[in-house]
Amino acid sequence: MSNIVSNYIEAIRDKDRVFDLVAPAVSPKLDVRKGCILYMEDVSVSFDGFKAINDLNLYVNEGELRCIIGPNGAGKTTMMDIITGKTVPDKGSVYFGQTINLLDMDEPEIARAGIGRKFQKPTVFEEQSVFSNLELAMACNKNVMPTLFAKLSGEELSHIEETLELIGLKDQRMLNAGALSHGQKQWLEIGMLIMQRPKLLLVDEPVAGMTHQEMDRTAELLISLEGRHSVVVVEHDMDFVRSIARTVTVLHQGSVLAEGTMDEVQNNARVKEVYLGE
Ligand SMILES: Nc1ncnc2c1ncn2[C@@H]1O[C@H](COP(=O)(O)OP(=O)(O)OP(=O)(O)O)[C@@H](O)[C@H]1O
Ligand SMILES: [Mg+2]
Repeated sequence: MSNIVSNYIEAIRDKDRVFDLVAPAVSPKLDVRKGCILYMEDVSVSFDGFKAINDLNLYVNEGELRCIIGPNGAGKTTMMDIITGKTVPDKGSVYFGQTINLLDMDEPEIARAGIGRKFQKPTVFEEQSVFSNLELAMACNKNVMPTLFAKLSGEELSHIEETLELIGLKDQRMLNAGALSHGQKQWLEIGMLIMQRPKLLLVDEPVAGMTHQEMDRTAELLISLEGRHSVVVVEHDMDFVRSIARTVTVLHQGSVLAEGTMDEVQNNARVKEVYLGE
């Protein structure tokens, strides 16, 4: 079992946490009294002289489900890299709530503060059951050893049950993750993030490779997170975006080109120009 844990920790590229197993989880206090959970102001980053992010300003409200669209290379993934501490910007400020300066923190600290990210690359354990995958994800958030080798507390069990329900995999709980469909694996991964109780969830291209039915189910899942979690979804599939969209932000050349409802941004002349030029 401990081997699985270390593989998982490796998989989420969060090696520092290994040394935090016995340390109390110190999470700075999130202050969202003004309703905003994420502030990015005047953020820029260049790679070899190319400005991937260019004076970006982005504000996400607490409990909001925000969609980010934009052509290839617009800077969407780089923006997520900056929020999660993977990329350090050349300038600007990035705050989680009003007081937590994300630019002062490294990736594990940011994850512990409550920002979860779903990568394209799957991190589920194919040889483990759906239930165990959720259990492992929960364990990786705190004291791994006590959780894995002792009985789960009632609260932990009900958190797993709620998550199984949320991701629609109640009936598959004892199935090995390897036997799940592509879509189900993606939901399991979202469930594994939920187990870590993030305040803000970043999801990059969740429906790539999914069937239409799976996309509909994913839309329902993301919508059901609204309110409890703030969610930022980057996605190319416009039908999918339309099905979940509240506020849509269009990124282009590293800055916000337009923001509004799906109809507003789709009718925006500058947005049309950028998409036609693709
Ligand atoms: N580590 C890096 N080194 C060099 N260039 C990079 C790096 N990361 C991103 N870029 C460049 O920055 C630009 C923005 O890339 P990014 O991946 O953020 O775009 P994107 O909006 O996510 O695109 P896509 O829709 O194709 O996923 C691209 O031109 C990319 O080549
Ligand atoms: Mg990308």
